[in-house]
Amino acid sequence: MNETPTFDRIPHSAPTAPARRAELLADPGFGRVFTDHMVTIRYTEGRGWHTPRIEPRAAITLDPASMVLHYAQEIFEGLKAYRMPDGGAALFRPDLNARRFRRSAERLAMAPLPEALFVESVQALVHADRDWIPDTDGGSLYLRPFMVATEVALGVKPAADYLYCVIASPVGSYFKGGSGPVSIWVSETYTRAATGGTGEAKCGGNYAASLCAQAEAYREGCDQVVFLDAAERRWVEELGGMNVFFVFADGSLQTPPLTGTILPGVTRASLITLARDMGLVVREERYGIDQWQADAASGQLTEAFACGTAAVVTPIGRVRGQNRDITVGHGETGATTKRLRDALVDIQRGHAADPHGWRVPLV
Ligand code: COI
Repeated sequence: MNETPTFDRIPHSAPTAPARRAELLADPGFGRVFTDHMVTIRYTEGRGWHTPRIEPRAAITLDPASMVLHYAQEIFEGLKAYRMPDGGAALFRPDLNARRFRRSAERLAMAPLPEALFVESVQALVHADRDWIPDTDGGSLYLRPFMVATEVALGVKPAADYLYCVIASPVGSYFKGGSGPVSIWVSETYTRAATGGTGEAKCGGNYAASLCAQAEAYREGCDQVVFLDAAERRWVEELGGMNVFFVFADGSLQTPPLTGTILPGVTRASLITLARDMGLVVREERYGIDQWQADAASGQLTEAFACGTAAVVTPIGRVRGQNRDITVGHGETGATTKRLRDALVDIQRGHAADPHGWRVPLV
């Protein structure tokens, strides 16, 4: 199939009424409200990618022996469309999501979707459901491309057939408390990824494996879990679904390096560039949990924040664990965290110039 195909457009016969849509958009939460349409594209071994469609959002029918239900060949992405000040819309760096999706597919031995087709599919869905992009402060349309193995077989092997979909969800803040500081729980029971595993792929299995630790965090009264490395149980890796940054008293920043066990976040990469644009030093180096505790106590560490497409930039106010209780800075949003968040969000929402050409306007 052509890499930029024409999608078959099957409009919804009874789309959500404008008044109901306005009600839903007023306070959508995160990932609870969905638009009227979805993208589907099929892959069949020997035929390749075919039958690209924008169609009414509906349940997917899967044979109970579909391989994804047994061996978890599933990958996904997350990116957002933003309402621009002139009423138009733009995506933020969809090329990076397309590349990561291809790499995740390769890691899970799935058929890689051509990157141009990924971007085209997301644009086509945003275009079909453009009235669902919130124009509220902090609101956006979260796009969730994903792919599952649909071959009907129980032998353990890479599937021959796949279904790729994109769904869209108008969202506000990921955390209930908005963009204010969150508390995180250091998991010393569970790890997320080991060298040679799937830690840098965006596959559902990684998130399934994080849920016990996340439940532990909730039980302890924390908002999120932070994982340590699997080998030494010492180095800070990432949160349940977000990367992490540290800010030091000398103004420098540090974030764990991409050594194969950490998700290469688009927000992470963008913040590194923006911080360097501001003249700040950014190190991609390991940071130990004990060091974090010591630096927070001595005042060397002044801020920490989580970042991701869903979480944007969320300050970390407190870190707890077995025999640990760390208050970061004063437990409030730090100045560097706020400055970086504002710089990123202003570019994403069209309130600032876009020197790196990250915005992709919807045509
Ligand atoms: C994202 O930030 O897009 C994520 O993937 C985090 C989570 C919602 C899974």
